[in-house]
Amino acid sequence: MIPIAHPLIGEDEQKAVAHALASGQLAQGANVAEFEKKFAAVCHTKDAVAVNSGTAALHLALLAYGVKAGDEVITTPFTFAATANVVEIIGAKPVFVDIDPFTYNINPALIEQAITPKTKAIMPVHLFGYPCDMPAIMKIAEAHNLVVVEDACQAHAASINGKPVGSFASGGFSFYPTKNITTGEGGAVTADDLEFTDKIRVIRNQGQKERYKQIALGYNLRMTDIHAAIGLAQLPKLEPFTQKRIANAAYLTERLANYTQTPVVADGYRHVFHQYTIRARKNRDQWIAALAEMGVGTGIYYPRTIYNQPYYQEIGVTGNCPESEAAADQVLALPVHPALTEIELEKVADSVIAVAKRLG
Ligand SMILES: Cc1ncc(COP(=O)(O)O)c(C=O)c1O
Repeated sequence: MIPIAHPLIGEDEQKAVAHALASGQLAQGANVAEFEKKFAAVCHTKDAVAVNSGTAALHLALLAYGVKAGDEVITTPFTFAATANVVEIIGAKPVFVDIDPFTYNINPALIEQAITPKTKAIMPVHLFGYPCDMPAIMKIAEAHNLVVVEDACQAHAASINGKPVGSFASGGFSFYPTKNITTGEGGAVTADDLEFTDKIRVIRNQGQKERYKQIALGYNLRMTDIHAAIGLAQLPKLEPFTQKRIANAAYLTERLANYTQTPVVADGYRHVFHQYTIRARKNRDQWIAALAEMGVGTGIYYPRTIYNQPYYQEIGVTGNCPESEAAADQVLALPVHPALTEIELEKVADSVIAVAKRLG
């Protein structure tokens, strides 16, 4: 079966981990500092703070901006659970705005009508590796004095006219194994505002400004030097991995565009294809079964909106986002990762065409 994801971990990463272990510096140390510096350079930001997951990155960014219980945070319901969970954990309320049906990202034209006196932040998600319309979102945020946290967990090195995501406002990234680069588990917050990143470093480390001097309430959300060592070995590969994803996606789009809805890429936008998502407008379960029979693994990101998750229904969080619901019913992700061979890629395209002809 051609898998939907395949983390590429090799000798470089193994050596880096062995070296970190041999150094005796296992918790946060020099590797983390170097990884932060290098990841900030990738994102064109003045700083990056490494943490132990993408969820931690988003959580810390909201906390450092002062988002608190009772505030409202505007976001998309068509995303991974973590996006809304960090809002809910703070005691703030996620307010859902519908997506554009072609990009799957939050529709900026619908944001302003969701703003209330309680709105504190906008959290756009660069879903599947495609940048949200950040110029439009930043304009709205500035007009209404709102902070912006970009959920860039799936979008390392995605950009608009050369400006990377995570540099428009502050960004939260994930280095989970299936992401475009990995540290095992891990995350980072990117920003230009050094006071803001200072706060994040404090909250990341039990609220301590320096050792045993606590100035705020905090957590232990630190990245270890072992994980940072993996990240340092992966970073030089981000660009070749990304180019392979983009080339794989271009091939799939050329083959599949006449048979299904393929991803859109606007002028100046760099889609980094964390996922390559098509639509099965009907019979999605049959598409999945037929593709599996032909040896092609698929994924559904995501099968229900956040407000249709049993937990969110139970606590009375609501939403009315028909495009998100339609996407949740129809989307299907195909393998696009950099480990695919040419033969595998061809097989993915041939199989999807055969299934589309059969099932429509
Ligand atoms: C859109 C989005 N937000 C947040 C996260 C959370 O990242 P992590 O799994 O590293 O906590 C993920 C990753 O799975 C994600 O895809």
